[in-house]
Amino acid sequence: MQWLPAFLLLAQLNQKPKGQVPSARQASCGYMKLKVDLIPLRQRKQKPTDPLKLEFGTTFTDHMFTMSYREGMWNDPRIGPFQPLSLNPAAMCLHYGQGVFEGMKAYRRKGKVYLFRPRDNILRLNSSAKRIVMPEVDIDFTLDCLKDLIRIERDWIPEVSGTSLYIRPTMIATEPKLGVRASLEYLFYIILSPVGPYFREGFNPVKLLVSEKYVRAVRGGIGFSKTVGNYAASLLAGKEAADQGYSQVLWLDALDRQYIEETSTMNVFVKFRDELATSPLDGTILPGITRDSVLRISRDWGLKVSERRVSIHELLKGIEAGTVQEVFGAGTAAIIAPIGELSYQGTAYVINGGKTGDLTRRLYDEILGIQCGERQDSHGWVLSV
Ligand SMILES: Cc1ncc(COP(=O)(O)O)c(C=O)c1O
Repeated sequence: MQWLPAFLLLAQLNQKPKGQVPSARQASCGYMKLKVDLIPLRQRKQKPTDPLKLEFGTTFTDHMFTMSYREGMWNDPRIGPFQPLSLNPAAMCLHYGQGVFEGMKAYRRKGKVYLFRPRDNILRLNSSAKRIVMPEVDIDFTLDCLKDLIRIERDWIPEVSGTSLYIRPTMIATEPKLGVRASLEYLFYIILSPVGPYFREGFNPVKLLVSEKYVRAVRGGIGFSKTVGNYAASLLAGKEAADQGYSQVLWLDALDRQYIEETSTMNVFVKFRDELATSPLDGTILPGITRDSVLRISRDWGLKVSERRVSIHELLKGIEAGTVQEVFGAGTAAIIAPIGELSYQGTAYVINGGKTGDLTRRLYDEILGIQCGERQDSHGWVLSV
């Protein structure tokens, strides 16, 4: 890696190192070449002193990646200063909800930086984009650009256990036009945020309110995609749950209001005595990358794993009878979150005495260990940057 000393030297001289790409192989894709415009070191922001105290998603690094789409092509890929976007008030994302995003993390441990299944996130971004008639990105090129951005912002990645760099790739419709149709212009960008634990509770059990009044997604809709509308649909229920002291909502299926689906940021698993069950991917829940990792690791461990519908009544009866031993959420932000209590129709159901279960803890340790390069990565999920 010859670039680093030259790049640092230039920055220290307070010159703007334009057009340099800090990677061994310059990120390029056919007609496109990544341009880099870095902020001089002196003008960079102060890094957080205690990353464990950071409020999730409120601190951003110095640089961002952007790329724009018009006339049927992606253009102008660049890494430049993190700064506000300039949008026409008629930009179609502001009116018709054409916006998709992703969430992934980079970990830094013992001086090394790791990404976890980043290709799967880009694939899912493309699947979300396709569902609402947005253009797909080139997977290899996007991954190369992301790696370059991570290398540039490497010093922002906290190293303490329980911390990471949250990565938010986002695509929005930018064509200024009123009238319902797909936009012809888009902006794709990636921003980075150093983070500590997602939940105030840390790795302690969270409480969920089972939503009877509101639904998140229906079959045939956009529930499986990471489009902005899904999150808007969850906000009121989330606020009402928070007002009652619950961390999140547990969604039921929209048709029968019977079957558990997921929360607004996590897929949900139920550990029965002899089975680990989670909702099937039938179009209404997000195909979580953590969910898939849990399924594959649990199968490796010889557990009986089912992707099947679990009704709220089966769940609650099982909690009362003690046949439901653990319930946990799985998602990038929290990784694995023990669920200690569910509230349904005004009654609270405490799971496993409100304590974190053994399988929940074992899965958390295993996935985090793999993500941080500390445990064997037998599936080839980890990418060293
Ligand atoms: C609605 C929803 N379900 C599940 C997940 C978990 O997905 P992943 O494990 O890919 O982060 C997320 C987080 O992205 C989410 O927003």
